[in-house]
Amino acid sequence: MKRAVAPPRVVKVEDLRRVAQRRVPRVVFDYLDGGSDGEVTLRENCRAFEQVTFRPRHAVAVPTCDLRTRVLGLDLALPFLLAPVGYSRVMHPDGECGAARVAGKAGTGYILSTLSGHRLEDVKAASTGPVCFQLYLVGGRKVAEGTVARARAAGCAALAVTIDTAVAGLRERDVRNGMVELLGGSAFSKLPYISQVLTRPRWLLDFLLDGGVPPMANVVLSDGKPLPLIDVGAALAAAAVTWQDLRWLRQAWPGPIVVKGVLTAEDARRAVDEGAAAVVVSNHGGRQLDCVSATLRALPEVVAAVGDKTEVLMDGGIRRGSDIVKAICLGARAVLIGRAYAYGLAAAGEAGVTRAIQILIADLERTLRLLGCSSIRELDRSYVELPVEWTKRSSQASA
Ligand code: GLV
Repeated sequence: MKRAVAPPRVVKVEDLRRVAQRRVPRVVFDYLDGGSDGEVTLRENCRAFEQVTFRPRHAVAVPTCDLRTRVLGLDLALPFLLAPVGYSRVMHPDGECGAARVAGKAGTGYILSTLSGHRLEDVKAASTGPVCFQLYLVGGRKVAEGTVARARAAGCAALAVTIDTAVAGLRERDVRNGMVELLGGSAFSKLPYISQVLTRPRWLLDFLLDGGVPPMANVVLSDGKPLPLIDVGAALAAAAVTWQDLRWLRQAWPGPIVVKGVLTAEDARRAVDEGAAAVVVSNHGGRQLDCVSATLRALPEVVAAVGDKTEVLMDGGIRRGSDIVKAICLGARAVLIGRAYAYGLAAAGEAGVTRAIQILIADLERTLRLLGCSSIRELDRSYVELPVEWTKRSSQASA
């Protein structure tokens, strides 16, 4: 195990966050770590997990722990997949290929973001597990058609369509750190922000040896060239997806479509009506509309609305294996982890992602044993207790 991410330095995912903060420039760390506006939802996503308590069954022998599950017809060794994380190659040259490789080795899936620096064909080839593609309509339908055809030819298992990005949320930290200027500005406009980069010489060397700012390898324009990397605000402003686009996509993509960004029963039902094979209860990790509810709180409403018709996944705020267990108890088939592995990637590349997954697996096994439950598939609501005010939300929604 690489020393930077070995115990005692790294015992939990939060420790990887600290190592990442020391390795990458502030502009990169804050892009990964931050949320929108007052970061209320970002904090709530984590806090919601703390409010759910366990109801263990003690004095039960649990000689084996079965972590396997099935998502979209795929057999996974773990009840979590790696979520799409934009700009992963800027965090570390291993980037999307490294994360996908680790996911495959662990027996789980990886979802590649449109805002990625490695070619989707290379990412697919790097993993022995399933790779899905997360689609933004950056560049419009024509460009997306090309990407979708490539994803199909490469053997991607599903298309994930993110529906919560009418525009980008205001990521205040990105503005302060000069993300726009550093990515696209003149040398003169970069000047006030450059010290954050110069104070991370090891990251800078890796970054330069990797070729500097990578183009968006999976957004190829009509002239055959990939779109130069643009900041997230500009990318998402040009990327909004509507239900009409979803209908069109169902013609362009014959495989399963996952609708990511559902927070209410109404949107969940609409997604199912539009043919979603799965929905992801997600608030984009607290990076889009601030002050929406924590995803764990929205999960029961969505499960009650569509859980018998489609698979319900969730993401947001997961930092421990016990968080994953809680989400599954509340009806999620599996979860997506984003920051939890991306902190590892930014801290130490592939080795950091491996460490994050290792920590979560150990957490999961320990939690199941302490709960007196031998399999992820046996988890249900009886293993957790929710705050009373949570139950009011689902009755409000169905009223
Ligand atoms: C990209 O999708 C982001 O939220 O930064």
